[in-house]
Amino acid sequence: DDSKDLENRPPVVTIMGHVDHGKTSLLDVIRSTHVTDQESGGITQHIGAYMVNVHGQAITFLDTPGHEAFTAMRARGAQVTDIAILVVAADDGVMPQTIEAINHSKAAEVPIIVAINKIDKPGANPEKVMQELTEYGLVCEDWGGDTVMVPVSAHTKEGLDKLLEMVLLVAEMQELRANANRMAKGSIIEAKLDKGRGPVATVLVQNGTLKVGDTIVAGTAYGRVRAMLNDKGRRVDEAGPSVPVEVLGFSEVPEAGDVLYAVEDDKLSRQVAEERRNKQKIQQMKVMSK
Ligand code: GTP
Ligand code: NA
Ligand code: MG
Repeated sequence: DDSKDLENRPPVVTIMGHVDHGKTSLLDVIRSTHVTDQESGGITQHIGAYMVNVHGQAITFLDTPGHEAFTAMRARGAQVTDIAILVVAADDGVMPQTIEAINHSKAAEVPIIVAINKIDKPGANPEKVMQELTEYGLVCEDWGGDTVMVPVSAHTKEGLDKLLEMVLLVAEMQELRANANRMAKGSIIEAKLDKGRGPVATVLVQNGTLKVGDTIVAGTAYGRVRAMLNDKGRRVDEAGPSVPVEVLGFSEVPEAGDVLYAVEDDKLSRQVAEERRNKQKIQQMKVMSK
């Protein structure tokens, strides 16, 4: 029982929505206005996840999971998101991928905050968007429902502070807690083979603290944390709950959605990884022989 060690952790937020409704634009302005500890010469996004600071409170944003990745991760059992921001363009309204995003979030039981974007545009009609969303069970608070909807513009930055405040408010109600004083458990957000550095994985630490030197296993990959870089590309020695880091030192490239564990000894991590690989091989042989 580690309940006495539980501490608040930052919310992990995924931005979803239909093509071109402004997900990236919103992320970009949030990042450029709320990232502390910026590198000289501007902000380089080193990994597909980053943290911002709003009135002294941290929020972690996941950039990668467009909802395909989100679905894949969910199918693999990785529950990484605490809150989904659903972006709907005020001039375009509810579209097929808006509905998909709603369904994914509901299935994962992730609370949705709606950002009605592009309200600066002449054809913008936020009320119509709210109306359309009621058909999918999302009723805004002003109309007696319980879904937070914030009209915003990535271009004029209108509404962005309110959006972030709402994220913190919803997070507060979720009572997100973790224990930093234990071995890390996390999820692989994305991974690739880097020519110079070998397998590189973006890991979201979800519980515990991941440290350089830790023995790790994720899916069929295992190894030892050789180095870690934070979302600013700086080397760090450790990463606690809700912190995304780039991890070097895997034996092979893990898959997005793999669950990462830091374990006590090397033998165990290797054994677990190898057993999984054997299982995979048997599975593949079964499929091939069909
Ligand atoms: P995909 O990743 O391709 O699905 O698109 P996205 O949702 O990330 O949208 P993106 O940020 O690429 O924006 C699409 C277009 O809408 C770009 O031309 C943006 O400049 C424009 N746009 C985004 N936000 C706003 C806004 O608040 N106001 C206006 N007028 N245009 C916006
Ligand atoms: Na786009
Ligand atoms: Mg985009």
